[in-house]
Order: sequence, then structure tokens, then C-alpha cells
Amino acid sequence: MLMSGLIGHRGARQLAPENTLSGMSAAIDHQIEWIEADVMLTSDHVPIIFHDDHLQRVTRHKGTTDQQTWAQLQAIQVQPPYGSHWPADTIPSLVQWLSTARTLGVGLNLEIKPSQPKLAKLTARLMLEVLKDFPDLPIVISSFNGAALDTCLNIAPTYPRARLWDQLPTHWADDARRLGVSAINLNNFKLRRHQVEQLKSQGLECYVYTVNRPARAQKLYHWGVSGIFTDRPDLMRETAFSRSSHIRQALDVNDSIE
Ligand code: G3P
Ligand code: MG
Repeated sequence: MLMSGLIGHRGARQLAPENTLSGMSAAIDHQIEWIEADVMLTSDHVPIIFHDDHLQRVTRHKGTTDQQTWAQLQAIQVQPPYGSHWPADTIPSLVQWLSTARTLGVGLNLEIKPSQPKLAKLTARLMLEVLKDFPDLPIVISSFNGAALDTCLNIAPTYPRARLWDQLPTHWADDARRLGVSAINLNNFKLRRHQVEQLKSQGLECYVYTVNRPARAQKLYHWGVSGIFTDRPDLMRETAFSRSSHIRQALDVNDSIE
């Protein structure tokens, strides 16, 4: 398996400020071994960990993320989700994110999330430059953007890659072959069981975003997905298979949960 059965989504998005170092700590507090985060560029081309094109949803500021310099963004705090005991936290640079992951011992799914399609290749290239200083970190690169994944294939083919789709398109198999991906990551709300079987028959893993109900997670594991992304690792701790890839592989999945 590329990653573990349970992956913290943007850290632990419903527990702590998303895509922040607090979020990484919150996920690890709940035994998470792999964390997903989104990578985009500031106006001065510093790779940062942030999800939205605009600042408004998660901060108390307005404006376009990619029109801020790194220095400007450092003055901005990401607000915690409702009911969280974690305080607001700063937007991390990719370097800070990788350094902290190395210290804390977690694997990272880095989703290349270019703020504009024309920045896809540059975002991938600058992310890979930063990764050169962290050769031992377990990393899986993913993206909805094919050009970003193609850039990774050309520059650093040894990093495992996953293709993100909202809905599996008819040309998924050709696309996956062309980009040399090992997994396809799909939207929980649109996923059908036969699609998981199709992917597996082609030797591809399937990871599913975003799953916050343990019963749904169990069902997906029994469909054969390799893992799920969750905002609520606290709810998933008792979910069979969620703890580690080794435990999951040792368990018998042949029961009748539909
Ligand atoms: O990588 C899984 C998931 O994060 C994809 O969707 O919009 O939450 O980045 P999004
Ligand atoms: Mg993401």
C-alpha cells in the first residue's frame, strides 16, 4: 500500500485549523500515520500549505491567496473550526510542513493545488525543488491537475503519484497509464463499488475523500479501497483497518458488510 488506511485530511480539518502545524499535531494525537495537505504558491513563488484560491473562508482576511507574498501571508492566521480547542495558527510554508513531518514521523500526501491552471507546472516544479532537501520522507504526490502530475513524472519519477478525480471519467485507465500513477483518489459521494473493483483489476489503489462516518469507512474498506481521508480521526480510531497498513493487511476482509 502507498499510504495507510486512514489519512488525516488537511491535518485533521474538523479538529484544528486546516493545513496548519496544529492540524498535523491534532492528527498525530489520534494515531494518524499519513497526512494530506494542499500545496500552492505565493505571489513570490514560495510553496505553501493552503487549500483555497481566496483567503476568506479560513482566515479573517479577504483577497486572492496567490497575490500575497510569503511575508504578507505570515501575518495571517487560519481560524480553527467551530468548537475546536486549538487556537488559530499561521499558514505554513512547504519547508516548515516537511520539517515538522520529519520531526514527528508522519508520511505526507502532498496534493498539488495550483491556484490557477497556468501555474500547475511551476507549482509542481518548485515543490519538487523543496523536496530535494527531504529525501527520506515518505511522500505521495497527488493532483486533480494532469499537467502537475506529468511534470512530477518527468522531473522526479520515483515519487509515487495518485490521480485525483471528482468523478471517474471514461478515459481514466489511459490517463493513469500516461501519468504512471499508482492510485486514483475519488470523491466519497460519487464512488460506486464496481469502480473500486475496476481500479483494482488494473493494479491501481483507490483512496477516498472525505469520509467522516465510521460506518461508511468500514463499508469502503470492504469494497476494497486502500484508505480514506478523514477530517475526524478521533471518530475513526476504532475502525478496523484504520490504524496501519500492516494491521490492515493482516486482517480478514471477507465478511458480509455491504
Ligand atoms: O486529496 C484529497 C482531497 O483533499 C481532495 O479534495 O478539495 O479537499 O483538496 P480537496
Ligand atoms: Mg486536498
